[in-house]
Amino acid sequence: MNILLTGGAGFIGAHTVVELLNAGHTPIILDNFCNAHPNVLTRIKMITGVLPKLYQGDVRDRELLKRIFNENKIDSVIHFAALKAVGESVAQPLRYYDNNVSGSLILLEEMQQAGVKSIVFSSSATVYGEPKTMPINENFPTGATTNPYGTSKHMMERIMMDMQRAQPDWSVIILRYFNPIGAHASGKIGEQPNGIPNNLLPYVTQVAAGKLKELSIFGNDYPTADGTGVRDYIHVVDLAQGHVQALNVKAREAGTHIYNLGTGKGYSVLDIVQTFERETGQRVPYVFKERRAGDIAECYADPQKAWRELNWQAKRQLPEMIRDAWHWQKNNPNGYENETFQAA
Ligand code: NAD
Ligand code: WQD
Repeated sequence: MNILLTGGAGFIGAHTVVELLNAGHTPIILDNFCNAHPNVLTRIKMITGVLPKLYQGDVRDRELLKRIFNENKIDSVIHFAALKAVGESVAQPLRYYDNNVSGSLILLEEMQQAGVKSIVFSSSATVYGEPKTMPINENFPTGATTNPYGTSKHMMERIMMDMQRAQPDWSVIILRYFNPIGAHASGKIGEQPNGIPNNLLPYVTQVAAGKLKELSIFGNDYPTADGTGVRDYIHVVDLAQGHVQALNVKAREAGTHIYNLGTGKGYSVLDIVQTFERETGQRVPYVFKERRAGDIAECYADPQKAWRELNWQAKRQLPEMIRDAWHWQKNNPNGYENETFQAA
């Protein structure tokens, strides 16, 4: 299939491009590089031998979307393009709603115009808010989000469900990711956050690399085994393969299809620090701080539905996730900055 990936140069997008190529599909990337580096394309070529087709531009640019749909016979779109920093979304809600909600609406309208009726949407476990019990399955209530980023994801889920009801021949696949970490085993592509990382794993790798002094652990008084927050960390390559599998199984089946993509296992912040130190031999100094506003004690998936219906399950365990994240950080202290990108 010819797959358009909005945000395809980003962390999850780039890994999905590689897995699509491995599975014999043709990925086409649309990215404005607001949170990505063009050199990711040359890195993808190093891994796969293929330099994917790129349109540099914004998902809110209707003319560009029209051109992409005219120039390519797109079978399905994976819509990654979004802003994703939770704290920033609280400070800049309009920017987040414009990018994440208006951007998605424009994309859906142009898909409709072009007769492309299959979309995979990057949603998030954040749409579940603070569930009363664990693990979280897809029937749990959604919408009690605590920040504009999460609300933008929930809004888009609702909008796409309404649209699919009105246009029953569409296939809408909503994938709710848990906590993606790790990097491609080659060490060629990985996560490169701008500035000081918000997420745990990139922060830990930068502490271990000596770029940051120490990790602040947000809260050690949660009702969890060791008092620190518990999350369902999933290797980004498993996540990417989940997209390929969802497309293979559901892209041609009309309906709204919703799946959790997680491992089903929860690990605490201290589990992450200890596993990191054991697997890499690096020390990760840390201090305990107050809980971070909006955080919940624990969050992990019931991943059975994806296993049952998509025949997909995460294969990589935490030590491999951590080794791959460290391999990427060690090999690329300056991320993608090293080579100069050359277009095809
Ligand atoms: P990322 O920032 O690495 O990737 C997003 C990509 O979209 C970037 O390359 C960015 O340049 C591009 N982009 C953003 N706005 C755009 C626009 N208007 N037009 C064109 N390109 C644009 O983030 P990621 O971690 O790869 O996340 C991908 C998707 O998955 C996002 O929708 C995110 O909300 C969602 N998600 C991420 C996580 C996570 O923890 N990483 C968890 C759940 C859901
Ligand atoms: C994990 C754990 C922190 C940093 C966020 C978004 C969510 C989704 C994934 C997109 C928590 C603790 C963290 C640090 C710490 N993104 N922590 N010190 O909060 O589960 O999810 O990313 O959809 O929407 O909210 O991930 O990596 O920030 O935190 O102690 O410096 O690590 O308190 O328990 P989170 P995270």
